[in-house]
Amino acid sequence: MTPLIAPSLLSADFAHLQRDIEMLNESECDWFHLDVMDGVFVPNISFGFPVMEAMARTARKPLDVHLMIVQPEKFIHEVKALGAKVMNVHYEACTHLHRVVQQIKAEGMMAGVTLNPHTPVACLEEIVADLDLVMLMSVNPGFGGQQFIEHSVDKTRRLRELIDRSGSHALIEVDGGVNRETGRRLVEAGADVLVAGSAVFRAADPRAEIHALKTSCNR
Ligand code: DX5
Ligand code: ZN
Repeated sequence: MTPLIAPSLLSADFAHLQRDIEMLNESECDWFHLDVMDGVFVPNISFGFPVMEAMARTARKPLDVHLMIVQPEKFIHEVKALGAKVMNVHYEACTHLHRVVQQIKAEGMMAGVTLNPHTPVACLEEIVADLDLVMLMSVNPGFGGQQFIEHSVDKTRRLRELIDRSGSHALIEVDGGVNRETGRRLVEAGADVLVAGSAVFRAADPRAEIHALKTSCNR
């Protein structure tokens, strides 16, 4: 299986966003991963809807929106209006997660639930059958360029088992510190989608790096 590659625009050059988005349009990447941070749920602020609307006008691949914010349910309509394919909300940010998931699906988007590194996959037992995607954070969210947390490989394996056992069709996405080496092990463990920020944008040739990620991370 060849994984989907979702480069994170957080690592793009914001002074040359259009150039970087056009580079991704020409690349073999599958999705655009957009990281929204509110300075409350995570200790950093990234960009919001006006910037994502500008990105969406140039982007020619599906948008995967990762909301690292409190009360993400307030923005379901805004995310839908961007034309997003996937809306990822954090398990830790949603008291009424089941309702939020139903609302996202009612808007015709894929419902993704993201787990912080310390949140066990068993927390999803009662909801995994309703999900289109589960994203595992393999760093603590808030910043690009952090070191991969090693236990994410085992966690991916345990999530794969939970999904298969529950008859869920959810894809497994992994976000943080993903490169060719960690990506290969994550895909072996059952990951379907790899987010890569610095591995792509700090590479000498980002398009070649996307090709390398796709071809070296197979199972
Ligand atoms: C972290 C973000 C990630 C980040 C990944 O909070 O959710 O998407 O941009 O960046 P790298 O690949 O550099 O760890
Ligand atoms: Zn992300």
